[in-house]
Amino acid sequence: MSIKNDLILRAAKGEQVERVPVWLMRQAGRILPEYRAVRAKSKNFIEFVKNPEMAAEVTIQPVDILGVDAAIIFSDILVIPEAMGLPYQMIESKGPVFEKTVKNRADVEALHVSSGEELNYVIKAIELTKKKLDNRVPLIGFCGAPWTLFAYMIEGKGSKTFSEAKKFLYTQPVLSHLLLEKIALSSINYLNAQIDAGADMVQIFDSWAGVLGPEQYNEFSLRYISMICEGINYRVPVTVFAKDAHFAIEEIAKIKCNTIGLDWTMNAANARKIVGNTKTLQGNADPCMLYSDEKTIEAEASKMLKAFGKDRYIANLGHGLYPDTDFNKVKYFVDCIKNHKF
Ligand code: CP3
Repeated sequence: MSIKNDLILRAAKGEQVERVPVWLMRQAGRILPEYRAVRAKSKNFIEFVKNPEMAAEVTIQPVDILGVDAAIIFSDILVIPEAMGLPYQMIESKGPVFEKTVKNRADVEALHVSSGEELNYVIKAIELTKKKLDNRVPLIGFCGAPWTLFAYMIEGKGSKTFSEAKKFLYTQPVLSHLLLEKIALSSINYLNAQIDAGADMVQIFDSWAGVLGPEQYNEFSLRYISMICEGINYRVPVTVFAKDAHFAIEEIAKIKCNTIGLDWTMNAANARKIVGNTKTLQGNADPCMLYSDEKTIEAEASKMLKAFGKDRYIANLGHGLYPDTDFNKVKYFVDCIKNHKF
């Protein structure tokens, strides 16, 4: 069965496209009143994520309402630490909090490599979503990069600096590698299960890449991202999104991923010069730009498309949508990209 609108898959593989495809990070979420209505039915975020029917419903909403060229499965990157034995809670307007954190060798050894079995609820949600999507657009699966998950597992919550997690890298490098490897192996099993269930492409989110320096990034992050790409045997196109990691783009370009996600601090021409033509670029509008008026949004969308060009490019934001963004503005931005004439 072929997907009717496969623009994004063709763009990821570097094939011909009639127009630039577009999707938005965090498109399935709080900007949509329809999302909030479904979300209100469950007690908390985790219960919501674990309900395949609800997850499938909010995954499809942005396809119907915003007209984006791909769906991304509704879940969270923190399901992996939980599957490995480190449960979390999502506290309203505060973010994730882990009851226990990883402090020493015994803690690392107590965690297990997930077979993906514990995450069967995500797999069910993917199967349901694929059915409901009926091949209209591709479905994106995802996981967090091992470094970003490690950072949450050590700190137990969000942080501006992730200095506790960095301290662990400096003081316990051997143990750090052991934990990162366990996370990477769990992520490989998880992504393989997502692909078997029908995910058409996958994205690896390295949200805290930017707190590391270039050498640490290679040793403690990129190495494990590369291991994941290899572990899924390049069965579907892979996107690596490393937030604030402009310093690492040249190295990321050397691993076997198809697409590199950029945040808004990267200039399109520079990124293209560094990455070359063998990879697709994705990004990179500032989500705050969507607070501006329609005229500005149109001008910014057009500037972005001209800078990246039609080929080997997937339009997106440079990070996730902020929850208080007016969804009409978001839809306008998506329309501007779809209607752009090169
Ligand atoms: O639409 C999509 O992109 C799919 C769903 C998705 C969510 N989280 C749902 C979510 C995706 C891809 C993620 C990834 C994720 N989760 C990342 C990587 C991307 C990034 O933003 O850098 C990270 C770091 C997390 C961890 C996380 N989840 C945090 C820090 C928070 C709290 C902050 C916030 O945005 O509220 C979450 C909660 C979360 N994940 C929400 C959603 C829709 C909000 C909770 C709610 O609706 O009640």
